[in-house]
Amino acid sequence: MTPYPRTMLAIHWLTAAAVAIAYLSSDDPTHGTTAVDVWMGSMHVAAGLWVLGLVLVRLPVRLLSASQRPVSTPMVGAWRRLQRLPGYAHAALYVLMLVTPALGWIALSTMTPDFAMFGSNWSLPLLNQTTSAWLDSLGDIGEIHAWVGDLFIALIGIHAAAALLHHLVIKDNTLRTMLPKRFQTIGPKAVR
Ligand code: HEM
Ligand code: HEM
Repeated sequence: MTPYPRTMLAIHWLTAAAVAIAYLSSDDPTHGTTAVDVWMGSMHVAAGLWVLGLVLVRLPVRLLSASQRPVSTPMVGAWRRLQRLPGYAHAALYVLMLVTPALGWIALSTMTPDFAMFGSNWSLPLLNQTTSAWLDSLGDIGEIHAWVGDLFIALIGIHAAAALLHHLVIKDNTLRTMLPKRFQTIGPKAVR
């Protein structure tokens, strides 16, 4: 079994953690009334920006390590029609890792002229007011961002369920290829 390179493993799980934090803290970051709300708003923006930063590193790393990518389990029988599905799902996840935080950034720019994270000097550079007013005229970007965020989470749910299906029902090595080395030798007998 060839696992994913360690850098890809690290980025994959750091991204999963950052998305979870961004989703759990999601709300309008400009309207916090209590200290906890304001902190959660900063958390949402910071974790979301981590997702964006990590995918910008992940894309070149993926390209450079293409030859070390694990070979996926060939599907058999009627399942062969679904052979391309994981590839499409992964491509959609990449698009959403880029688009969801980018829309959040644009939405924030239409809602406030500045945004200081965690009440400190960590000001987020926002799009200027002329650009953001023009973007706002295209529709409620905040609402679109929230909708795309929900779609992202739904796709992650299906992706995680598929990984668990491979591990628990098909009993192949798909999940192990995305786990650190020490988890690659335990569990049910591998078939690839
Ligand atoms: C993976 C990253 C992200 C996810 C999954 C995500 C998800 C969401 C969701 C589901 C909401 C709706 C919350 C609600 O109304 O209950 C929301 C709101 C919001 N998010 Fe994000 N977000 C992400 C990143 C970001 C980033 C990076 C920014 C800013 C730089 C941002 C700014 C906002 C703003 C301004 C709202 C309020 C929109 C409005 O009420 O019109 N988000 N986000
Ligand atoms: C934010 C959450 C997640 C995102 C954005 C994400 C995204 C991706 C992407 C794009 C790939 C393809 C490899 C690559 O090119 O990077 C992948 C592979 C994989 N992911 Fe995730 N993932 C997430 C969470 C999870 C979770 C929670 C699990 C397990 C429960 C999981 C299990 C796997 C496995 C096993 C693979 C290897 C699949 C294969 O090679 O066929 N992922 N993930």
